[in-house]
Amino acid sequence: MTHPPLSRSIAGRCAIVTGAASGIGRASALLFAAEGARVAVVDRDGEAAAAVAAQCGGEARAYALDVADAKAIAATVARIGADFGGIDILVNNAGVSSFCALDDPVYEEVWARALAVMLTAHQRMVRAALPFLRQSDAARIVNIASTEGLGATPGDTPYVAAKTGVIGLTRGLAVDLGPEGITVNCICPGPIRTAMTDAVSEEHKVIFAKRRTALRRYGEPEEVAHITLSLVLPAASYITGVAIPVDGGLMARNA
Ligand code: NAI
Repeated sequence: MTHPPLSRSIAGRCAIVTGAASGIGRASALLFAAEGARVAVVDRDGEAAAAVAAQCGGEARAYALDVADAKAIAATVARIGADFGGIDILVNNAGVSSFCALDDPVYEEVWARALAVMLTAHQRMVRAALPFLRQSDAARIVNIASTEGLGATPGDTPYVAAKTGVIGLTRGLAVDLGPEGITVNCICPGPIRTAMTDAVSEEHKVIFAKRRTALRRYGEPEEVAHITLSLVLPAASYITGVAIPVDGGLMARNA
């Protein structure tokens, strides 16, 4: 499909969203579908992914994939490319909470899982999608990092390392793929109301948000999805290699 160069439409474009069965990924899949994109709803929870694909309607399809599985990534991305006849947009969003104290006996496992799901998977998804992205006239990659890639909460080193890595990977990919016109950016969400933050009580959410964010509240997954949408528009053709906080001003606020 051809678009005018500075189009603000993703209608007809094929978009992969990982971790799309819940939270920020789900909101992104639904928003992209509402904008007319054909969405590959990817998640390790195949049933929940199928439910989201059904809600997306149109040509959305669900794919069960654990992004920690290298072989499965290669096979699934190839299948998506074949099913949709191309890939224009890749959003690496799947993630897992990975709090772990340094002297916890399971630290090594938590570390390995955090890096596998939230960093190694991103480069694998990109490399698997590249043959398709190279065929697109407006190829866009967005990685979902975190404000934990810009600062650190105590007891969260595996997650902080993975998310900081995502920001570096984004920069490296942007430089490597820039000559081909493929943009690569990342978003650093702050405190967002999703399954990942369900364990935080409402009372503590309010206390935290009032104390730490400029906007004095938690964010909603849709508020992240809209910034992701902005970055994947064909018109977003001269922004690459950046990390954008979508955090209610958490990183901006000192006191
Ligand atoms: P969520 O828990 O609502 O959704 C995460 C989704 O990823 C789930 O559907 C889950 O099944 C999927 N997933 C987890 N491991 C997977 C794997 N190995 N393979 C495939 N799918 C897998 O969480 P949320 O908040 O929507 O998280 C989305 C992204 O946003 C994550 O990368 C997270 O680290 C990031 N983030 C979230 C923040 C928040 O406050 N909620 C803050 C900063 C970043």
